[in-house]
Amino acid sequence: MAVKGIVVASTNGAVGIQAAIEVIRAGGSALDAVVAGIEPVEANPDDNSVGLAGLPNLVGDVELDASIMDGRGLRAGAVGALRHYRDAIALSRVVMEDLPHSLIAGAGAERLAREVGMTEMNLLTPASDDQWRQRLLRRGIRDGAFGPDLRGWARRVTRDPELPPPPHGTVNVIARDRDGNLASGVSTSGWAWKYPGRLGDSPIIGAGNYADNRWGAAACTGRGEKAMRCCTAHSVVTFLRFGMGLTEALTTAMEDMRALDDPYRGQINIVALDRDGHHGAASSAVGKTYIVQDDEMSSHEELVRLHIPVTAETDGRSADKA
Ligand code: GLY
Repeated sequence: MAVKGIVVASTNGAVGIQAAIEVIRAGGSALDAVVAGIEPVEANPDDNSVGLAGLPNLVGDVELDASIMDGRGLRAGAVGALRHYRDAIALSRVVMEDLPHSLIAGAGAERLAREVGMTEMNLLTPASDDQWRQRLLRRGIRDGAFGPDLRGWARRVTRDPELPPPPHGTVNVIARDRDGNLASGVSTSGWAWKYPGRLGDSPIIGAGNYADNRWGAAACTGRGEKAMRCCTAHSVVTFLRFGMGLTEALTTAMEDMRALDDPYRGQINIVALDRDGHHGAASSAVGKTYIVQDDEMSSHEELVRLHIPVTAETDGRSADKA
């Protein structure tokens, strides 16, 4: 018997959620819906946290991370530190379906994108380039003149108390199709001004993304190192498995992160969908929202996330983009 199709996403997924729900309405799979929902975000030049126009790493290179997971058989694919190609979620699916692997990073990911005929492009737009330069100029860095201590700059540019916290956004899309199958996807340009080659939680299955038809799915945005160290997306699904409701599962996963010693600033956020189609989301920031659309709704609804403080530093910081 058909169940209600539904798509849940981080709020920056608004440009793609309609495409995702149309896939479901047409009888398509949750996996197809996730890709359809994320691709418009990757192509959106106004979103500087995902795909084209993503903010670059410390030395000015845009490096994308993404992953996709199929809740039917726990298949997953991911790419990390992908340069010159926008289609990180589609390429994650290629990894899952065409390779005996789950994660391809760096030059290998770029090679794979070329091999399957994706379009090579300059991901760094003038606006993102300017934002990258301006933050470095505030610390006296001009034309990449960092000197030998690049790791010191990675710490200082991130933690500079005189500057707003660096934006570190991401898109999450989770879908349930009319057959009751779940899929989840994440795509991001990661932590802006990151050390080159840094991978966040987004391409790490279990950290930033997890889907299991038997229990539910979860995905994260925000400071990925928190989700990596607590295996947050998998934790939410495991808490569902052991009988918690969605609100308790989200709250417990957020509270787990209070054990982290983390001097770096950055909020953390989770969206989740259980196998019965209940949705929820949490954030360490006040007033953060997520979006949802089921197959009977003509447009999406924006809802406020549970606010679960994680550290004093992230509490109340709703200005971060993530
Ligand atoms: N959550 C995205 C990142 O940390 O890269």
